[in-house]
Amino acid sequence: MDDLTQAVTKRRTFAIISHPDAGKTTLTEKLLLYSGAIVTAGMVKGRKGRKAAASDWMAMEQERGISITSSAMQFTYKDTIINVLDTPGHEDFSEDTYRTLTAADCAIMVIDASKGVEKQTRKLFEVCRLRKIPVLTFINKMDMPGKEPLDLMNEVENVLQIHSYAMNWPIGTGRDFCGVVDRNENTSIFFSKTSHGGSQKADLTTVSFQSSEAKQKIGSTNYTTLLEELELLELAGNAFNTQDFLDGLVTPVFFASALTNFGVEPFFDAFIHLAPHPHARMADRPDGTEVSIDPITTPFSGYVFKLQANMDRRHRDSMAFIRICSGRFDRDLIVKHHRLGKEIRLSRPHGMFAGERSTLDIAYPGDIIGVINPGVFAIGDTLSLTGGFNFKPLPQFQPEIFAKLHPKDVGKRKSFDKGILQLTEEGAIQLLKTEHDLIFAAVGQLQFEVMQYRLKDEYGVDTVLTPLPYQCSSWILGDMNTFSKSTSSLIVRDRLDRPMVLFNSPWDKQYSVKQNPNHQFADIL
Ligand code: G4P
Repeated sequence: MDDLTQAVTKRRTFAIISHPDAGKTTLTEKLLLYSGAIVTAGMVKGRKGRKAAASDWMAMEQERGISITSSAMQFTYKDTIINVLDTPGHEDFSEDTYRTLTAADCAIMVIDASKGVEKQTRKLFEVCRLRKIPVLTFINKMDMPGKEPLDLMNEVENVLQIHSYAMNWPIGTGRDFCGVVDRNENTSIFFSKTSHGGSQKADLTTVSFQSSEAKQKIGSTNYTTLLEELELLELAGNAFNTQDFLDGLVTPVFFASALTNFGVEPFFDAFIHLAPHPHARMADRPDGTEVSIDPITTPFSGYVFKLQANMDRRHRDSMAFIRICSGRFDRDLIVKHHRLGKEIRLSRPHGMFAGERSTLDIAYPGDIIGVINPGVFAIGDTLSLTGGFNFKPLPQFQPEIFAKLHPKDVGKRKSFDKGILQLTEEGAIQLLKTEHDLIFAAVGQLQFEVMQYRLKDEYGVDTVLTPLPYQCSSWILGDMNTFSKSTSSLIVRDRLDRPMVLFNSPWDKQYSVKQNPNHQFADIL
């Protein structure tokens, strides 16, 4: 196997999707613990008290000194090279969160066993479905009282409309959660704590599920119940095959506790086995035909999925994050920039090592590199050695918060317009138009805060933001002359002049869907 093939087959690039507080940060930390990148977990303390916009990743980076580009983190787990993408949640939730998912080959969906499938998870899952990203489900917090495992499986199926298949089954729940049954191997894996709060790996003992040792450890009554549940799963549950998982038809489900490390190692082991390595991506040729870009046989290609301005105030620069889709990347590579139709040298590609920026020399498909952006990159730009194709455009997501924005000082109008043009081109904010006015739209509050901050910092413009009462929106496909609009909704046009309607409430939107059966409502375009 040549170096490139080996590098591709060894890589797993994925994102963790979850609702805030389900345990994404804890699970990420445990991946680092089990990979040996850190020796003690549980260092990211006082999460709740931290500054709102500081992401958990930045904190990890400072406290651990490990390699995080602020967009992706790379390390090795049992000979597999892991690239975990940062999908900010909480207050940092923004369109970047969605776009970052497009750079993943696979996702881990973390669900809190006591809460089930929550709102943000649902939205992120929809993006995975749209992009055909296979999803593994990690049911977390099994050490706490929670919903019944069977109910959780049903909830995943009903809410997300995907088949679920339990790869393992919990032995005991809440305080009695002591292990899992591996359904494939027909073994019981028992865990024991080696440290307080799961700061060290959990010890595990594996015995046959039929063994007297397993029966004795589980207890005869619990063993009988467990046996019945497993039989029920065999009889009434779905089947599992890897292709269905890769096609997004079924999600393998694992029960565990990220905090105590119970079930964590078997999950990681199954993950590296199941998760796909970087695969071919479709692109368009200038003549409109499609071409499949193979990670191994196509020379270097990648696309920009995230831009970040002023990452380092000492450098006053902006960075573009590129997901490599094919071929080997070497420092200072000269590539074709499809949109601009010119050649560009990708100089000073960066990773973050030990909290300091350092230059990367080589990177492979699945890796994320950060390069300085001297104003030439926009979200979705394709870069390739050979040129001649453009990766499919990144989807745009239905905004959920809306506001008007004006410069405080009318004399600053010119700088304001310039700043807005730049920020919308970067994809930092969506700009909508009514007949007479401009409306700013975002999927997360932080996008507005960043926009105001950057207008002041980079363009010297103080602004006044006036929130608007709309709560959701939809692109409308169909003839707008025949669209029946409620009095409280507003028809606008997006940057590409596509019609969109803003609604006061999800209820208002539902009503409008019913009133307009001949129109299509799209949440993602
Ligand atoms: P997030 O990144 O998805 O937002 O979640 P995070 O990992 O920060 O976890 C949210 C809270 O849930 C944390 O508690 C964390 O310790 C706890 N947690 C995560 N996994 C488990 C688990 O398997 N079992 C239990 N019982 N708790 C879990 P916190 O009080 O907010 O923070 P901390 O002060 O404990 O760090």
